[in-house]
Amino acid sequence: MGKKILVCYATRCGSTGEIAERIASVMKTNGHTVNVLQVKRNIDIEGYDAVVLGSAIRIGKCLGEAIEFVKQRKVDLQNKKLFYFGVCMMITMPDKAQEVQTYLDSMIAEYRPVAHEIFAGKVDYAKLSFPIRLLMKQMKAQEGDFVDWQKVDSWAKMISKSI
Ligand SMILES: Cc1cc2nc3c(=O)[nH]c(=O)nc-3n(C[C@H](O)[C@H](O)[C@H](O)COP(=O)(O)O)c2cc1C
Repeated sequence: MGKKILVCYATRCGSTGEIAERIASVMKTNGHTVNVLQVKRNIDIEGYDAVVLGSAIRIGKCLGEAIEFVKQRKVDLQNKKLFYFGVCMMITMPDKAQEVQTYLDSMIAEYRPVAHEIFAGKVDYAKLSFPIRLLMKQMKAQEGDFVDWQKVDSWAKMISKSI
């Protein structure tokens, strides 16, 4: 039987939201009822069987509002299946594989999910403020869309089955 699922996400430039929408659409195809929301302090999570929480990664960490959400809602999350995903760039660089595996640690330390995954996102200089654009250029961060939609779909199918 289909379950009720909340996919929520924290983003700065939008790519985490796009991935959240895609995960939701795959889960709907798999028979679940899914809502997608941007993370906010007062989201009502009552009545959901599972929560999928995504965060963009900045400077090696999940966004503060995603960590805060898990920290504040531990009691409400107790009887739900919880899944995390992170969206970053370094996953496209094989020499950064170890570093990337630490990106979700701050959320995992607050509350252990059933499963978690990291996806590649996008870098669009036009969406960044001038100082951050400068910083990214200094770091030689490559602009582009690196989302692997097949990987997103497979993960969404996998979690759909495990709920
Ligand atoms: C200021 C800044 C810092 C970032 N830091 C990291 C990082 O430490 N590791 C990484 O893999 N990607 C990093 N990224 C890349 C973002 O995680 C990537 O662009 C992601 O798709 C952003 O998600 P969003 O579009 O939902 O905000 C950084 C991007 C910016 C703009």
